[in-house]
Amino acid sequence: MEVGRPALGHYPASMSNHAGAGENPLAGKTVLLGVCGGIAAYKAVEVCRRLTDAGARVLPVLTRGATRFVAPLTFSALAAEPARVSLFPRLGASGATAGTGSSDPAGTGSSDPAGTGSTEPVPHIALARRADLVVVAPATARLLGSYAAGISSDLLTATLLATRAPVLVCPAMHTEMWEHPAVQDNVALLRRRGVEVLEPDEGRLAGGDVGKGRLPAPEAIVVGAAALMGRAQRAAPARPAGELAGVRAVVSAGGTREPIDPVRYIGNRSSGQQGYAIAAELLARGAQVTLVSAAAMEPPPGADVVEVETAAEMADAVLGAAASAGVVVMAAAVADYRPASVLEEKWKKSAAPVSVALVPTIDILAELGAHRRPGQVLVGFAAETARELAELGRRKLEAKGADLVVANEVGRPGTGFGSQYSRAVIVSRERTVDLGLVDKRALASRLADAIEAVLAASAAKTANEAHTAEEGGCAAGT
Ligand SMILES: Cc1cc2nc3c(=O)[nH]c(=O)nc-3n(C[C@H](O)[C@H](O)[C@H](O)COP(=O)(O)O)c2cc1C
Repeated sequence: MEVGRPALGHYPASMSNHAGAGENPLAGKTVLLGVCGGIAAYKAVEVCRRLTDAGARVLPVLTRGATRFVAPLTFSALAAEPARVSLFPRLGASGATAGTGSSDPAGTGSSDPAGTGSTEPVPHIALARRADLVVVAPATARLLGSYAAGISSDLLTATLLATRAPVLVCPAMHTEMWEHPAVQDNVALLRRRGVEVLEPDEGRLAGGDVGKGRLPAPEAIVVGAAALMGRAQRAAPARPAGELAGVRAVVSAGGTREPIDPVRYIGNRSSGQQGYAIAAELLARGAQVTLVSAAAMEPPPGADVVEVETAAEMADAVLGAAASAGVVVMAAAVADYRPASVLEEKWKKSAAPVSVALVPTIDILAELGAHRRPGQVLVGFAAETARELAELGRRKLEAKGADLVVANEVGRPGTGFGSQYSRAVIVSRERTVDLGLVDKRALASRLADAIEAVLAASAAKTANEAHTAEEGGCAAGT
């Protein structure tokens, strides 16, 4: 897809972030800025500044080649976001991530010399998902070739292959390189795949040469980026805003902890990721969300958070909030048992075997099912180590009187507690939908669809009953 040169001046040159969203599509967007190792890399610094001036959050990603021309620190400082370089986070002795390489290509003297800022275990996927737009400026002949061939040998190309965001590449190189059939074929292939390629300018090149291959002015690149972002927004499938507007939802998340003494507790491996993803999804659909959390995570913006620790605290918070809620999602892993009594002093170690008497905790889902408001949608989770997810989910649905149960597999690597993914089925009264292995955010979205379907069916039923009652009333009056 070639758009040619966007008309300069269509957006104000400064593209102040005070401009309305309609005037400035970059405001509030996350733009991944890829920078390659070409002589024009210095202009990317100005692109970075202009993108941030336009109100975008910029995620700078530099190739190793780029760090020979410009310092990651410059981008980190301008973007207020760590500039990333390496695909592979450096693992410390504990296995924790801590920056990357041992060399200091940029000469920053930093303890994170490559300037990766990478603490994500799978950085290219995390970056690819965060980006609303990707801009590569300058794009070298090497980058165009790797991207076209699907070779993901560095952080930038791996991210380009992983992203679903619109991509603008801005090639810059000597005229002979630009005109080479290999480069032209790669550019044509990328355009056919929907990548937007900004034609290079004619003008002065490195080494005093003149010809086509010059990186367009930073202003033109930012105008092109804004135009692409605007078109992508208009082309996005129209989802009615706020399908859950006006709905109050309660979501529980995380694993409860049942104290044995002042320092020990009985807990579980739930991270809270799934509950938080559901809260974020419901908020995005316009719901007012109370997140009852036993997890230590950054809550999604807009959620009312109630922090709890034990099953009893969670029961109080959830049952209280559910009294006025239209949707209740019990995604938390609530302890089934708690110690019969909690020691006031730390339990002293001894050589003799010991045992802890356990008593059942309150069954929050069953309580919710027994006392639910008319029309309230109740969702339970079943964390299972057995493979018969659908059958176990249906049994739980019936036993607890829930509308929906998400049965997910736990206890295996790569799914369930602590993982970004879940092997899950969604069971409703009418059907069972097997999602297979899904990202927890995708699961949250499918669950929100199912919640909307239950709400819609319930609203239709209520309307039907009112209509029938009205007709009955009319008939009686005749
Ligand atoms: C001084 C100098 C300037 C260069 N300028 C360019 C350029 O403008 N465009 C380009 O495609 N390659 C240029 N190269 C070659 C790239 O740096 C080289 O292909 C490198 O492998 C690109 O790596 P990267 O794409 O990972 O950044 C230049 C090399 C040097 C030494």
